[in-house]
Amino acid sequence: MSNKEAWGSRVGLILAMAGNAVGLGNFLRFPVQAVQNGGGAFIIPYLVSFLLMGIPLLWVEWAMGRFGGRYGDHSTPFILDNMTKKKLWKYFGVFGIFTNIGVMAYYTYIESWTLTYTIRSLKGDFLGMDLASVGQVFDKYVDISGGVNFPVLALGAFVITLVINIYILSKGLSGGIEKVAKIAMPILILFGAFLAIMAITMGSTGRCVDCDSHIGLNFLWEPDYSSLKNPMVWLAAAGQIFFTLSVGMGTIQCYSSYVKQKDDIALNAMSAGWMNGFVEIVLGASVVIPIAVGYLGLDWVKENAGFDMAFKTMPYLFDQWGSVLAIIAGVAWFGLLFFAGITSSLAMGTPWMGFVQDEFNWSRKKASWTLGVILFVLALPTIFFYEYGVFEEYDYWTGTVSLVVFALAEVILFAWVFGMDKGWNEITHASDMNVPKIYRPIIKYVTPVFILIIFLASLVKPEGGDWAAAFAGNWKLDKGSIIGNIMHIGVDSSWTTSGKLTKTFFIDMSRLLLLATFAALALMVGHAAKLRNLRKKENDK
Ligand code: PHE
Repeated sequence: MSNKEAWGSRVGLILAMAGNAVGLGNFLRFPVQAVQNGGGAFIIPYLVSFLLMGIPLLWVEWAMGRFGGRYGDHSTPFILDNMTKKKLWKYFGVFGIFTNIGVMAYYTYIESWTLTYTIRSLKGDFLGMDLASVGQVFDKYVDISGGVNFPVLALGAFVITLVINIYILSKGLSGGIEKVAKIAMPILILFGAFLAIMAITMGSTGRCVDCDSHIGLNFLWEPDYSSLKNPMVWLAAAGQIFFTLSVGMGTIQCYSSYVKQKDDIALNAMSAGWMNGFVEIVLGASVVIPIAVGYLGLDWVKENAGFDMAFKTMPYLFDQWGSVLAIIAGVAWFGLLFFAGITSSLAMGTPWMGFVQDEFNWSRKKASWTLGVILFVLALPTIFFYEYGVFEEYDYWTGTVSLVVFALAEVILFAWVFGMDKGWNEITHASDMNVPKIYRPIIKYVTPVFILIIFLASLVKPEGGDWAAAFAGNWKLDKGSIIGNIMHIGVDSSWTTSGKLTKTFFIDMSRLLLLATFAALALMVGHAAKLRNLRKKENDK
C-alpha cells in the first residue's frame, strides 16, 4: 500500500470536513432554492430532511469511512466491497468517484468565476456601474456565442483555479487540504458574518415600497405550514440537504477513512454537519436575498432568483454603499465564495486520489495531475457550450440524481446487508457523544424509505407537479422528471435543424461523455479487483 495519508489534528479534520460541506451550495444554491420554493415554506421540509435523512447519512458515511480505513480502503468501491460478500456492490461504489469528478468539473468552473470577481472587485472594476452593465459583464464573461468570443478570460481563470486545486491535492491531506481549511474556514466565517451584519442592519432603503432587507429576511423565515403538503417543496428541500452536506457523494467516506480507528466519528460528524447548517441558514440566508430585496424589492428577487444573481447583481448592490465599502464587501463576498468553493472542490478530488493510490500504487503527484487532465477535458464542454445547457446537464446527473441513487444504495447496504447491529457498533464505537438510540430505527427504516420516496417521486414526477391529477389517473410525466429528461419529453429530440446542431445534440453528447466516464471508472474498478485477487494468491502461496 502506498497510501500513507493521515489527518494532522482533530481540529484540522473537523475544519476540513466542514470545508467539504460548506460550499457554493450554502451561499448560492440554498437562498435560491428557498426563494423558488416559497421562502419560509421551504424551511420545515428542509429541517425535517436534515434530521431524518441528513444526520443519519452523515453517521452512516463517517462510519463506512472509518470502517474502510481499517482495511486500507479509501474510496467507496472497495469500502462497499468489504461490507458485503456480494461482488456487485463495488460497482455501486463507482458512483462515489464518478459523482465527484463530474461535479468537480463544473464546480471548479464556478469557483474560477469567484476568483475573477474577487480580483475585479479589488480593482474597483464595478464602481459606478448600473445594474444592467454589471449583468452584461457576466454575460460577456461566460458567453462564447458563435465562437466569435473565444472565452480567453473564462478559460484562463478556470485553468488557474484548476491548477491551484491540483497543486493542493498533490500536497496531501495534512500538508495540503488541512492547511487550506484552517485558513479558509475562519476567514470565510468572518467575511460571512460581516456581510450578514451589513444586511441585517440595512433595513429599508426607500428605493421602492418594499425595498427593505427585513422583508427579505421575513420572507425566508416565516414558516408556512401549507407547504408541507407540496411534494415539490419536499423534493427541493431534500435535494438541497444532499448537496449541502455532501452526502451521497463519497467524499465523506474518503475523508473519514483517514481517521484513526480509536478516534470518535459520531461527534465529529455532528460538529461538521451543524457547522454547515449554521453557515447555511444563518449566514447563507442573510446575504444575497436580504440585500437584493433591500434595493430591488421582493417581487424583483422572486422573479430573478438564480445562482447567477450573486455575480449579476451583488457588485451593483454593494456599490450603493459607497466605493470604499463596495470594494471591501465585493472582496469579502467573492473571496468568501472562493474559499467556500475550494475547500469543497478539494474534497471532491480526494476519492479519486485515494482510489488510484490504494489500487495502483500511484504517487500523489501522478494521481493529482492525472485528475487535472481528466477534469480539464470534462470541463471544456461546460465552458464552451455553456449556453447549450451542458453545465446544467452535469449538475443534474452528477450533482442531483447520482447522489440520491448512491445514498439509497449505501444506506440499504449499511442497514440491511452489513446489518444494523454491526452498523450501530461502527457508529458508536469510540464515540465522544451518546448517539440517540432513536436513530437506530431511523437509519434502518425511515431514512431508506424517505430516500426511496424522493427517488421514485423524481423518477415519475407528473407534469407541472400536479400529483392530485396524477393519482386521479391522469399521469403525464413532467419534462423535469428523470424519465422525462431521459426521453426528452416536451423538447425537440432531433440533433439538427436546418443544418445546425440543436441544444438536444449537446445535451445528448454530454450525457454520453458522463456515461463514458462512469464506464471507464467501472473498468478501472474491475481491473483493481483482479489485481487484488492476484495479490491475494501471491500472499497465500
Ligand atoms: N457541499 C458542497 C456545497 O455545499 C458541495 C459538495 C458536494 C462538496 C459534494 C463536496 C462533495 O457546495
